[in-house]
Amino acid sequence: MKILVTGGAGFIGSHTIIELYNAGHKVVVADNLCNSSPVALQRVAEIIHVPEIPFFKADIRDRAALDRVLTEHPCDACIHFAGLKAVGESVTKPWEYYENNISGTLVLLDVLRQHGCKNLIFSSSATVYGDPAVIPITEKCPKGHCTNPYGQTKSMLEEIMMDMHRADPTWNIVLLRYFNPVGAHPSGRIGENPNGIPNNLMPYITQVAVGKRAELGVFGDDYDTPDGTGVRDYIHVVDLARGHVAALAAIERHCGLAIYNLGTGKGYSVLDVVHAFERSTGIHIPYRVLPRRTGDVATSYSDPAKAARELHWTAQHDLDDMCRDAWNWQQQNPEGF
Ligand code: NAD
Ligand code: WQD
Repeated sequence: MKILVTGGAGFIGSHTIIELYNAGHKVVVADNLCNSSPVALQRVAEIIHVPEIPFFKADIRDRAALDRVLTEHPCDACIHFAGLKAVGESVTKPWEYYENNISGTLVLLDVLRQHGCKNLIFSSSATVYGDPAVIPITEKCPKGHCTNPYGQTKSMLEEIMMDMHRADPTWNIVLLRYFNPVGAHPSGRIGENPNGIPNNLMPYITQVAVGKRAELGVFGDDYDTPDGTGVRDYIHVVDLARGHVAALAAIERHCGLAIYNLGTGKGYSVLDVVHAFERSTGIHIPYRVLPRRTGDVATSYSDPAKAARELHWTAQHDLDDMCRDAWNWQQQNPEGF
């Protein structure tokens, strides 16, 4: 299939393009580069041995630009990664998050249907479960209260897409709820490239390891978890990328509206991650316990059985692989792209 990949220059998008090519698909990327570098796409091209990845510097809020992309590159499906994703920033800039993520997606959905491209995979998030009602989290777990505008945009966009599908069942829409994507391509050529101080655990750890930060702050050690620190379902970004290929196959089978968790089903604490990183790289990570971070939940990990059953997809990489590949990327690219 030919796939429009919005946000394809970003962390998850760039890894997904590789897996799409490996599975025989073709892509065209639309990204405004507000949180990414065109170098990522050059590196993807190197990895998959093609001269270049078809790319438009386009904003998903720009109807004319999207129309041009789809006129020049008629597509069978769209994988929609484009969006702003910093939880903390979304609290201070709610309008910007609603405008970019919601208005942008509304424009995209309209242009897609005008071009007869009614097959969509959407990057949703485990954040829609809020403080989860059950652990491990199945897709039947009710959505919870999102404590930040970023999470609200994901939850609202899911609702919008469900309504679109109800009104026009010729859409095939797969909502993928990612747990905690980490790691990098094993080549070390592409990876996560946060601006400024990393918000997320793994990039913070790799920046401590490379000497950019003195120590890790552990946000709370008094949660109701085995060691008191927060427990999450970390998933290797290459596994996550392959989940999108599996979701495309479901779209080819005319799945209608479907929701899947993409996680490993295993929960690791902050200190488990620190120790796994130390074990797999041999580097000591100094840390200090700080107060809890507002909005954090104690425990979040998936029940990934539905994706295994229906998409024939399961995560293959373990936490040591995630640490090794995140470190390989950081070490080779201390300043990012
Ligand atoms: P990322 O920031 O690396 O990638 C997002 C890409 O979208 C960037 O390249 C950015 O330039 C682009 N973009 C943003 N707004 C745009 C716009 N208006 N028009 C065109 N391009 C635009 O983030 P990522 O980690 O690769 O995440 C991809 C998607 O997955 C996002 O929607 C994110 O919310 C979602 N998600 C991410 C995580 C995570 O922890 N990384 C977890 C769950 C869900
Ligand atoms: C993991 C654990 C922290 C940093 C976020 C978003 C979520 C999704 C994935 C997009 C928690 C602890 C972290 C640090 C720490 N993104 N931590 N020190 O919060 O589970 O999920 O990314 O959809 O919506 O909220 O991931 O990596 O920030 O935190 O102790 O410097 O590490 O408290 O327990 P989180 P994270």
